[in-house]
Formats: sequence, C-alpha cells, structure tokens
Amino acid sequence: VDSYFLKRIFIMTKTPITIARGDGIGPEIMDATLKILEAAGAQLAIEEIEIGKAVYESGVKNGIADSAWDSLNRTKIFLKAPITTPQGGGFKSLNVTIRKQCSLYANIRPCVAYAPYVKTNFPKMDLVIIRENEEDLYGGIEYRQSQDVMASLKIITRPGSERICRYAFEYARANGRKKVTCMSKDNIMKLSDGLFHKVFDEIAAEYPDIEKDHMIIDIGTAKVAAHPEMFDVIVTTNLYGDIISDVAAEVTGSVGLGGSSNIGLDFAMFEAVHGSAPDIAGKGIANPSGLILGAIQMLVHIGQGGVAEKVHNAWLKTIEDGIHTGDIYRAETSKKKVGTAEFSKAVVERLGQKPSTFKPVDYSKAPAGGIKLPPLKPVKPEEKLRVGVDVGLNWDGKPDELAGLMQDCLLPEHNLKLQMISNRGTKVWPGGKPGTFCADNWRLRFMAADGKTVKTSQVLALMNNMNEAGFNFTKSAMLHTFNGVPGFTVAQGE
Ligand code: NAI
Ligand code: MG
Repeated sequence: VDSYFLKRIFIMTKTPITIARGDGIGPEIMDATLKILEAAGAQLAIEEIEIGKAVYESGVKNGIADSAWDSLNRTKIFLKAPITTPQGGGFKSLNVTIRKQCSLYANIRPCVAYAPYVKTNFPKMDLVIIRENEEDLYGGIEYRQSQDVMASLKIITRPGSERICRYAFEYARANGRKKVTCMSKDNIMKLSDGLFHKVFDEIAAEYPDIEKDHMIIDIGTAKVAAHPEMFDVIVTTNLYGDIISDVAAEVTGSVGLGGSSNIGLDFAMFEAVHGSAPDIAGKGIANPSGLILGAIQMLVHIGQGGVAEKVHNAWLKTIEDGIHTGDIYRAETSKKKVGTAEFSKAVVERLGQKPSTFKPVDYSKAPAGGIKLPPLKPVKPEEKLRVGVDVGLNWDGKPDELAGLMQDCLLPEHNLKLQMISNRGTKVWPGGKPGTFCADNWRLRFMAADGKTVKTSQVLALMNNMNEAGFNFTKSAMLHTFNGVPGFTVAQGE
C-alpha cells in the first residue's frame, strides 16, 4: 500500500466532533460557522449535544448532562458556542467543569489586529497568549485560618509547567512564530513562579530556532497594553494568563473577533472568546468570526490544515473587502454592513481566494492531529530531608510573649529550636519592628536544633506540648531540603 493511498483514506475519513449550539447568539453563529465548514469541504462527522441554560434550568447544576459526556468521551473534540451562565443558585461554571474534567491544560488565544479594516490603535499587533489552564490559584484550595485571615494556595508543578512551556515552543514552531516570552512574578514568588521560569528556560534551550525572553508579569501586561507589537507568543501561568488575555483581546479593538482553543492530552475544545450576547440574540446581527476562528483552530488541530487555510484566507478576504457585521462596521473603512448569515455567505463565496492586503495564512507546517508533546523529561530524584516545621497558630498578643511561651513547650528531646515568628509573611520575632501590623494568625518556624534533620515524631511531640499549653493550631507545614536546597522561603525581613 503506497503512502498516496493511505493519505487518500485519511482525507476521506470524517473526523467525529461534538458541537453545542449554546445560548443567546450561540445558535446563530454556530449555524453560520457550520455552513462555511461544509462549503470548504471539512470532513466532519458531527454529533450535537445540548449544554447551557436549558440544561441548568432542568436542574443539572453544572449545565451538562451525563449523556452529553458520552459524545464528548467518544469524539474528544468539542466545538462549543457560548452559553449563558445563570447567576447564583449554586450553579457551577460549565467552562470550568469541562476544562477540569477533560484536563484541558492549555488555553490558546490569538490576538490579532485587522487594520486598517477594523479600528485599532495597534495596527501591527499579532500575538498569541498561551495560558496554563489547570493549576495556580484556580485549584480553588482556600482556607479561613482565623477570624481575620483567609488564604489561597497557589500550586505550580514541574509537569504542568513543562507541558505548557513546551506547548508554547511547539506552537511557535508549527505556526511560524519567532519568539516566546514567558511572564511570571518570580522576583516575589521565588519557588512557585521561580519553578515556572526555570522550567521555561530548560525547555527554551531545546528550541534554539526560537527566540526567548522573560518579563515580570506587571511590566509585561503594561507593555501588552501599550506596545503589543513587540510580542509574538506569550506563555504564562493561569491567573496572569486570564488577565493578560483579556487585556490583549480588548487591545486588538474587537472582542467579537477572538477565537480560542483549550487543549488537553486527549481532549480539545474550541470556542469564541466572547459570551452569549443576550442583548443581540435572535436578531441575526451577531458577528460569527470568533467561532469561525475557533473552528479554524479545530481544523488545524484535527489535521485538516488545508481546509483551515482555505476558510481562514476567505475570512481574511471578507474582512478586507469591507463586508462587516455591525460590531466592527465603520463608515470610513467598511463597504457593506451585513448580518450573521450574509457574512457567512460572503465567506463561502470567497473560499479559494486569498487576501491581498493581509498576509495569507499558511498551515502547511501545522502537524496533523494537533501538537503532540513528547513524554515529560525524566527528573533525577533529589534527596529530601526534613529539617523543620512551620506551625500556624491563632493568637492574640505580642510576638516576644509568644516566643517566650514556646520555650516552655520545647524540650531537648524534640531536637527543635524556634527560629522565627512571622505574621502575614513578615518576620516579627526575633528583632521585629514595632510598626509591623499583626493579624490574629501567626507562623512559628522551628528548625532542627542540631542543624541536621528532625523526625515527624519529634514534631508531633512538640505540637502535643503546644496543644496541652492551650495553643490553637491553624495549619502546619513540614520543611524540607532537596539536595541541600531549602524547599521553603525565608520570611520578609528574616
Ligand atoms: P458577551 O461577550 O456576551 O457580550 C459583551 C458585549 O459584546 C455585548 O454588548 C454583546 O452584544 C457584544 N458581543 C459579544 N459577542 C458579539 C458578537 N459575536 N457579535 C457582536 N457583538 C458581540 O459578555 P457578557 O454580556 O458579559 O456575558 C453574557 C453571557 O455570556 C453571560 O451569561 C456570561 O456568563 C456568558 N459568557 C459565556 C462565555 C462562554 O460560554 N465561553 C464566555 C463569556 C461570557
Ligand atoms: Mg477570564
């Protein structure tokens, strides 16, 4: 069997996908999008599921019925129109549910200006944000530690960071992009953001053909807002990515033109950036471009790059020809104001044409079947030694007094010494500053008295004494070194 024959079979085979028409303008823009995909010759076996408002209202708290999962688990490819999330009433975000249950670790959002046809302050802007989608503060691990103190846990892992950073470089290669910029706040969060930055550098070294740099997220966001032309691909953690991708989309001049993909190890979901726009639903005037651009990313992902290219070029030509929906229509730059269906028809008429002002897209280098990441890099296990413990306490009083009370709880057989006390991360003992404000939750750091290691039983014996002395624990964390490097930070001012 020659490869030509195999290729023919591959092309002829329809890829099963799941779609949902969603709420508000969802059905209108999905209809417009599917018409274009069909006319362009996309080979799709479409299964439809219902999600969103009607499902929520039928009593399903997360907006997606179990039966809908059958289709998703089968196709693993989801083209999703926006849905209306009901307010209050214990309803859970469908997007977060799908993202988590399908392990969609990467959120990809291209932010492109279409000047001079769509008004923008940054005509050359053309960047892609690749946001880690599962970790960070979105684990939602939160605690109320005392009357006054709430805490959220930020989780950054090596595998999670490696996956998203590698995805960014593979994406850059596959899409002919030149530079990947990592954004983090590792000057403050030395361990969590520090790991992300470190893994970025390690992965970057494997891609000498791609330029790399790193920016602190605050100045990076400012630069995206004021000089977006300087960026190509941006990779960042979940929360920063959430914020900066909205900044970038807004700066392009048109949230209605954004498409995005959510990529997992097995699943992938494609959608528009905008919501269900209930204010214009049913009027036939919505811009279907966001979902069309999401569908183009889907076609590239499932190995139908040729069809994706055809649709994308026809879409660019339509924008260039000044055929615009109301949201982007301007008398100076547009030629014809159209509704959703008419816009879709204009794109269909231009299938096979290329834009003349915009650079035509080229998906010939995009890998069939989406970007497949190699297995995670093996890591050398490091020697982990227990060297101390941080104990959290609710307490009212002065730090010197608290330190004094601890001396009564500490016995020589615990092999622990009180090294410092901090409040809200700032050292208040020994040698605290009288001006430091203290909340009602304290952290006491005990380290091995012999400067070596401490046993769990010794930690528990100390805590037992503290308990008997009437102290009120909130949280404790064991302190370890890894190959001699502390796996914990020092307090501010320590
Ligand atoms: P939205 O994006 O739906 O609308 C914001 C504004 O942009 C509105 O004035 C709307 O008319 C306009 N707009 C949005 N898409 C447009 C399009 N394609 N063509 C022309 N104009 C467009 O955001 P909003 O109003 O905050 O949310 C409405 C609903 O959508 C809410 O229930 C929200 O929870 C949901 N939502 C769903 C998302 C999803 O399913 N992925 C994402 C964001 C919001
Ligand atoms: Mg957001």
